[in-house]
Amino acid sequence: MSTNIPVLKTAKSIDRDADIVVVGLTSVSENPTLVGVPAELEKAWNKSFPDSLLETAVGLGARSELGTLVTLPPFPQRVMVVGLGDVDVTPAALRQACGVTLRQITGSKDAENLSVTISLELHDPELARAAAEGAVLGAYRIPRVTQQPGSCKVATITLVTGRAQLKESVEEAGIVAAAVVQARDWINTPPNLLYPETFAEAAKDHVSDLKVGVEILDEKALAKGGYGGLLAVGGGSSRPPRLLRLSWAPRGAKFHLALVGKGITFDSGGLDIKPAGQMASMTCDMSGAAAVIAATRAIAALGLPVKVTAYAAMAENLPSGTSYRSSDVLTMFDGTTVENVNTDAEGRLVMADALGRAGNDSPSLIVDVATLTGSCMVALGKRTSGLMASDDATADRLLDAAEAAGEAFWHLPITDEARESLKSDTADLRSGGKHRYGGALVAAAFLQHFVPEGTSWAHLDIAGPAWNDEAPHGYTPAGGTGAAVRTLISLAAHLAG
Ligand code: BES
Ligand code: MN
Ligand code: ZN
Repeated sequence: MSTNIPVLKTAKSIDRDADIVVVGLTSVSENPTLVGVPAELEKAWNKSFPDSLLETAVGLGARSELGTLVTLPPFPQRVMVVGLGDVDVTPAALRQACGVTLRQITGSKDAENLSVTISLELHDPELARAAAEGAVLGAYRIPRVTQQPGSCKVATITLVTGRAQLKESVEEAGIVAAAVVQARDWINTPPNLLYPETFAEAAKDHVSDLKVGVEILDEKALAKGGYGGLLAVGGGSSRPPRLLRLSWAPRGAKFHLALVGKGITFDSGGLDIKPAGQMASMTCDMSGAAAVIAATRAIAALGLPVKVTAYAAMAENLPSGTSYRSSDVLTMFDGTTVENVNTDAEGRLVMADALGRAGNDSPSLIVDVATLTGSCMVALGKRTSGLMASDDATADRLLDAAEAAGEAFWHLPITDEARESLKSDTADLRSGGKHRYGGALVAAAFLQHFVPEGTSWAHLDIAGPAWNDEAPHGYTPAGGTGAAVRTLISLAAHLAG
């Protein structure tokens, strides 16, 4: 399953052949003011209509409020007016406005092969980048599993930039947006079609045109290597686990970033099975793996001079006669023994193996990404991810990257209480606490045990934002969202200096 991404272009002026032209509305001293309407467009408009473009737009209800949309009568081009907010236009506002606009366009039944031109006075690279990202992300549609030929709703998106230098920024935005789209496509692929073996192969294909090294450990190699967490969690499924390793090692790289992603292709809970209503969305439980794979490809495609080693820990958590149990004691990759307290706390077990292995590469920083705990959603809601880290400087590094990328994270602590709750009578460590309070912190405390002492580490719990089971909003569609992809790429860009 894969989506056709619209082709992104830049132009100096509005293309007369574009099917749709998008302009903006803001307000200056409380007066509605159009953004990105060149004199030629105004002139052409005035030939067809008695009222000015602004008057017509306002008459039809156009407002400067961010993301409000009005479509003007065709003349013959279709003009859409999108609200950009009342204050100075920010990258976040443009991402949102362009996202809403393209979502509306792609959502209309008769849209086919449209060319859309966005004219919003994008004279700054950050603004052009954000507009391009928002537009491509807003145009996303979940690919249908069908034998019918797919239709392409929006074929091209052209940004009027006026400056040739912005072409490169828009191209980079295209690479970033394509990574988010790829992560969404993997997350939205049903779990009978995407399982450890097919996921690992898809990831391998996905980087085959780049200088990215690929290693896939199958169940035999995992047994040989002592990956007790992956084998236990994957043991209940007829579809065995995989550990994928990608490496991007450009010449001259000074920083070594390790990425680790949770790749549970379906989380039924295992023997500690989930209630029916909470199971279907667990097709999203490989979102962390999708994020690290897609981000690694983008980092390589952008040619960022940072060494990246990415691990995706892939398994399917199912109940069967070969499932692992609660009260099993597992020996993890690094030799730690773990008393398993709940088969639905599977993510931390596969992550522990992958973190242990990542530590062997001696990276400068490890960032892991996982749909790890329902508790994190209880704490922060559906649109903010949790961030826990080895130290505040590392947390700040991640928060800065996330802010630049336009993704919401909130720094949570790893408390002594959480650490103490992991003391076990039968093994080195329990896999969870004795009650559900502070579950996100307990899970983070567990993961930290597998990070080498002295190595900087950040843990991103994306359980809420990874999957949208409500109505689409802004540039976020229903289903898989591709959460954390942009933050990881932004982090690598920051580390590259
Ligand atoms: N994949 C889930 C966490 C999750 C829940 C992600 C909802 C997205 C939406 C994880 O494997 C899980 O089941 N966690 C349990 C842990 C508990 C059993 C200690 C949880 O959070 O309830
Ligand atoms: Mn689970
Ligand atoms: Zn899970």
